[in-house]
Amino acid sequence: MTDQVTDTDPAMEPDIPGKPTSASRTTLSHIMTHNDTNLLGTVHGGVIMKLVDDAAGAVAGRHSGGPAVTASMDEMVFLEPVRVGDLVHVKAQVNWTGRTSMEIGVRVLAERWNESDPATQVGSAYLVFTGVDADGKPRRVPPVIPETERDRRRYQEAQIRRTHRLARRRAIRELREKRAAEGFED
Ligand SMILES: CC(C)(COP(=O)(O)OP(=O)(O)OC[C@H]1O[C@@H](n2cnc3c(N)ncnc32)[C@H](O)[C@@H]1OP(=O)(O)O)[C@@H](O)C(=O)NCCC(=O)NCCS
Repeated sequence: MTDQVTDTDPAMEPDIPGKPTSASRTTLSHIMTHNDTNLLGTVHGGVIMKLVDDAAGAVAGRHSGGPAVTASMDEMVFLEPVRVGDLVHVKAQVNWTGRTSMEIGVRVLAERWNESDPATQVGSAYLVFTGVDADGKPRRVPPVIPETERDRRRYQEAQIRRTHRLARRRAIRELREKRAAEGFED
């Protein structure tokens, strides 16, 4: 991964037309069954993470117009347990685009099988997908065009997360190089 903020201003790359956020926004819905439970009888976090990755992957593929791979997943938050019978909706959209990568924001909602209340938010996550070519090498992706004030806020927040991801990776790499130079071995 490149350890510098190399974000290219989408306006500087006019040969790839931008795509609006709404063009790739996706909802994946799934009813939870007994196959999805952990030992406590509630839904296993890994089942939700798989749905999150699936929904984000569908958005990344739609937006980039081709294959895209999960580069990272962060800030996966579980707010409330999901139960057998709940109808889970996983809502995903492109928050931000770089040159070859995209941040996908995901919200997880659950309609309780035994309640008539509106769906409750039970989780959220941010994933980075990278568009790849047939050889698995990064390829350019269209710039996303935020359409609403909420989309614009999400774009700005994604830029902050991007800066922090790069800074954290750089700081850890430098610490490891320093420790290695000082003769420490893991
Ligand atoms: C993701 C992958 C294609 C990146 O390849 P790379 O040779 O490291 O390419 P780069 O360093 O040029 O990174 C490409 C883009 O991905 C981003 N990226 C790469 N790793 C990242 C990470 N860990 N977190 C966030 N962004 C990342 C870079 O910032 C860059 O974005 P930009 O072009 O918008 O600036 C490569 O690491 C890979 O194939 N990983 C495996 C993916 C996979 O199989 N996922 C499913 C797991 S089962």
